[in-house]
Amino acid sequence: MEKPDQVFHKKSFVAITGASRGIGRSMALKFAAMFPPKSVLVLMARNVEALEIVRTELMTLTPNVTVIIRQYDQGKTDQGYFDGIFDSVLSENKITKGDFEQAMLVHNCASTGDKDRTGLQHCDGDRVRSYFDTNLCGMILLNSSFFSTFCGPSPARVIVNISSGGAQRPAPSLSLYCAGKAARDMFFRVLSTEEPSVRILTYAPGAVDTVMLQDLEENTSSLAMQTMINGIREDGKLLTPEAAVDDLVYVLQENKFNNAEHVDNQYKKYEKYRETM
Ligand SMILES: NC(=O)c1ccc[n+]([C@@H]2O[C@H](COP(=O)([O-])OP(=O)(O)OC[C@H]3O[C@@H](n4cnc5c(N)ncnc54)[C@H](OP(=O)(O)O)[C@@H]3O)[C@@H](O)[C@H]2O)c1
Repeated sequence: MEKPDQVFHKKSFVAITGASRGIGRSMALKFAAMFPPKSVLVLMARNVEALEIVRTELMTLTPNVTVIIRQYDQGKTDQGYFDGIFDSVLSENKITKGDFEQAMLVHNCASTGDKDRTGLQHCDGDRVRSYFDTNLCGMILLNSSFFSTFCGPSPARVIVNISSGGAQRPAPSLSLYCAGKAARDMFFRVLSTEEPSVRILTYAPGAVDTVMLQDLEENTSSLAMQTMINGIREDGKLLTPEAAVDDLVYVLQENKFNNAEHVDNQYKKYEKYRETM
């Protein structure tokens, strides 16, 4: 497929899941400064108060971009929860898809699940199902909802799948997380063959100092994981969310990635730490 030119030059409708903190919040702040005026940013997460704080920051820094908050729980299993999410965002805010040159959905939200269990210790079906509801099923359903709204070739459609090194390499104590990320990557590889007009970036950000990583560092049952993260932290190799987003922006700007291919620019940086695993 023809690679679209500059992603950040197009007047865009951009939805980011997990925008209430961490990488998603930094992405919202950075993206708002990069897209042209009258672009719309939809911030999605469960914690509305935290989303409001991000919106306030954005409105001070980048008043030309419209910021919409949408409370969203990707783990919901209620019938119809995902139907028409973006149709209602458009109609409630009196905008139409024809207002935009590009529609982008960033699948950023995620959780790590039980980090105190090995793969053999997952005996509670409800907990395992609930993990995949949030991290796989919900993402697939949101994605379908997005494409039912942005169903034609115009506006151009871009998906950013925030992946992880764990999609490609096993991380002890993170069996559900790694399995979920690997499944998401493959989901988008299949989609890229079915919908070649859609630009898809699958991007692993590296080790980023966020609530997710701090929680893993404190609560993993794997000494090897803990040693690895401690080593990365002590050597000053943890990325800030801002630095991680700068690299993501660079990849999108350069626009040389193959559709749905796993992009991990930090892979080499952590090679020596993986030796302990
Ligand atoms: N940090 C790292 O080192 C690292 C490394 C590799 C990949 N990643 C990936 O980067 C992405 C962002 O991670 P992060 O480190 O920024 O994590 P984080 O600080 O824990 O933030 C996770 C975000 O997801 C949202 N979220 C969690 N459960 C949700 C649900 N059920 N429904 C809707 N939103 C939900 C949270 O908001 P609410 O609680 O308000 O809903 C929050 O905004 C994830 O996909 C993660 O797998 C991170």
